[in-house]
Amino acid sequence: MLPLGGMGAADFMAVHWQKRPLFVPGAVPEAARVVDVETLFDLARHPDAQTRRIARKADVWTVDQGPLRPRQLAAKGVWTVLVQGLNHFLLEADALLRRFAFIPYTRLDDVMASYATRGGGVGPHFDSYDVFLIQAQGTRRWRISGQTDRDLLPDQPLKLMADFRAEQTFDCRPGDLLYLPPGYAHDGVALDDCITLSVGFRAPARSELAREFLLWLADRIDLPGLYADPDLRATDTPAAIDAGLLARVGGLLSGIRWDDAQVSAFLCQYLSEPKPHVVFDPPEEPLGEAGFARAAARHGVALDLQTLMLYDHAQVSCNGEALTPPDGLAAAMHRLADQRFLEGGDVSRALADCLYPIYRVGHLHVAAAPR
Ligand code: SIN
Ligand code: CO
Repeated sequence: MLPLGGMGAADFMAVHWQKRPLFVPGAVPEAARVVDVETLFDLARHPDAQTRRIARKADVWTVDQGPLRPRQLAAKGVWTVLVQGLNHFLLEADALLRRFAFIPYTRLDDVMASYATRGGGVGPHFDSYDVFLIQAQGTRRWRISGQTDRDLLPDQPLKLMADFRAEQTFDCRPGDLLYLPPGYAHDGVALDDCITLSVGFRAPARSELAREFLLWLADRIDLPGLYADPDLRATDTPAAIDAGLLARVGGLLSGIRWDDAQVSAFLCQYLSEPKPHVVFDPPEEPLGEAGFARAAARHGVALDLQTLMLYDHAQVSCNGEALTPPDGLAAAMHRLADQRFLEGGDVSRALADCLYPIYRVGHLHVAAAPR
């Protein structure tokens, strides 16, 4: 069932997505079981997790980056600990993320969890992405505002709004969900010890998409031959960029073309690339190709929790690497990418051979459910 109360996905997208907030009490009853304080603190001490600790004493804010030391997690006072990428570590967090699969994986980012002591929070701010804030434990008072004045306080270690003016208040209890579109101001304060889960959606900057596409294209354009200027004239200003050079190079550049198939191939590859800190664990005692095919046909295969597989009509990309499924296997690969696992009966020998390289590097496992 969708985590939207009674609302359908199409209505949510039309009315709320990137447009207006939505509060749904009791939308995610399983939120309380996604992570407990002990597991969250274990992750906060773990070097592979992206963790921050934000403390406030009177009006002085401090931010520490993880991994955290035990005493930072046992301190008295008002503080909060935020752990990114919970879905990379916990099946329950991955399952939570998948409940939002009515939104394309290209937009889905990660599940963050925050633990806050009473009074804790990260202050009034706005985010550049869409976020579903889901209460897992305790109560958090969210005050939100659609204000357009987003000036920040100067000289702070985190982004704090200078003049936050709350327009609505929600006391979120376990299972309650608050959706906020990008740029919507919010301030969440823990009324008691609380855990909040944030399901966030990435929105790459337009300049980032353009730059990355042009870099991708640079490796693929074919412009044979050397620059030639048989009509070059003698000059007495040899350091100047002359009009002929400008015209010839301008013409060369404006002749560079690309099509939708290339843009799609770029998106498939670029948007499936893992974040820089992600490291995959290859199997310790990998099966041989035939053994893998037998095991996969028996138990099925599942993508690693950190893996992102995307596809278009022409290709499949797994963690930024193109895979070339043999003819007739595209539908099975697309199912694997969408549902993130395949039953054993769906893994033919030819498909297993195609998946073997990503099994060897730890992007996919022999398993009945996502790992
Ligand atoms: C939090 O969980 O404390 C912060 C989440 C957010 O404001 O986006
Ligand atoms: Co926020």
